[in-house]
Amino acid sequence: TEQTLVLVKPDGVARGLTGAILARIEAKGYSLVDIKLVEPDREVLEKHYAEHAGKPFYEPLVEFMMSGPSVAIRLAGNRVIEGFRSLAGTTDPTTAAPGTIRGDLGRDWGLPVQQNLVHGSDSAESAARELGIWFG
Ligand code: GTP
Ligand code: MG
Repeated sequence: TEQTLVLVKPDGVARGLTGAILARIEAKGYSLVDIKLVEPDREVLEKHYAEHAGKPFYEPLVEFMMSGPSVAIRLAGNRVIEGFRSLAGTTDPTTAAPGTIRGDLGRDWGLPVQQNLVHGSDSAESAARELGIWFG
């Protein structure tokens, strides 16, 4: 069985949606292997978001991720990497499908798209790399 890194990002924690998001993850049948509240420093975030360095949204994204605590989850399950991405919905909550975390819970109030509640690793390689960063 596969593992992935899930983050409930600062907007999700601040809005009190951690429980609602965990309920969806658990209802799907995935297993929580490890979970913690974290306040990542810039170094962690620069590693985590290395693929986005230099893009226009990179600095605002890193700042946003330092704006409050996140919940980091080591999640296990059959095809959980692809499955959690499907549960999360597309990156922009404005267009994420109903039934997904971002589609149902993401706000469409003209907020920057980085406030999209969750992160999920996008491949086996990303999952291994990101789990190393957040859970060492
Ligand atoms: P993650 O699961 O968070 O990695 O989402 P993703 O894989 O759907 O998106 P991607 O890896 O391309 O981008 C990582 C994060 O950067 C997203 O979750 C957003 O928070 C933010 N982001 C991506 N594209 C944009 C953009 O065009 N504008 C802004 N402001 N933020 C973006
Ligand atoms: Mg991504």
